[in-house]
Amino acid sequence: VKGKPARETLLAALERFERESRVDGAGGKRAIDLGCGEGRDTAELVARGWRVLALDGHPEGIARTLERLGPEARGRVEARVARFEDLADGSWKAGEGEGVEDGGWDGGWELVNASFALPFCAPERFGAVWRWVVGAITPGGRFCGQLFGDRDEWATIADRTHHRRGELDGLFAGFVLEELREEEKDSPEVSGRVKHWHVFHVVARKM
Ligand SMILES: C[S@@+](CC[C@H](N)C(=O)[O-])C[C@H]1O[C@@H](n2cnc3c(N)ncnc32)[C@H](O)[C@@H]1O
Repeated sequence: VKGKPARETLLAALERFERESRVDGAGGKRAIDLGCGEGRDTAELVARGWRVLALDGHPEGIARTLERLGPEARGRVEARVARFEDLADGSWKAGEGEGVEDGGWDGGWELVNASFALPFCAPERFGAVWRWVVGAITPGGRFCGQLFGDRDEWATIADRTHHRRGELDGLFAGFVLEELREEEKDSPEVSGRVKHWHVFHVVARKM
């Protein structure tokens, strides 16, 4: 996916923030890009003035994310190797990568973006990870990204997390679901192999 543009769910969330035209703090709003990959969404966030904590379990993802940002952009990004499963214990702070001097992360984040990422979380850890995600978002802030449905072809893989449509209401109990698009189709994955996709594309605002 190298060099691809930002995901539609992120663009939709950003548009909503921009329409609200809430007054930014001096340093701009704060976002987490969970499973940032090679930084397609992180780059968009920084270009729009956000400060970003970019996390990925793969060191190459973090290296590529940093590589694609210019020096000024790098000053607004903390990029660390971290697994979703380890978010709650704060160990991401010690992960390989590069940090800004004071990320100001203690006050929480206005946005958690997780594009095609959280389904790769171990299912037995998903509940705790999700509670952390919900707790990390400030009231009025948003979650955007994808969750995979139970009819997705990868649902049979033991270490993946998939959801039935009905489960989403529980996950987003403290949110207004601003956009929820359920997509089911046969189309190629990155390798070119055709796969059955069942995906929920979500933008949600925390109450
Ligand atoms: C399908 S890619 C999505 C990348 C990017 N967000 C995008 O939309 O193109 C999933 C990303 O999640 C990361 N990942 C998978 N399992 C993870 C885990 N348990 N903890 C942290 N990152 C993980 C992978 O390294 C990969 O970069």
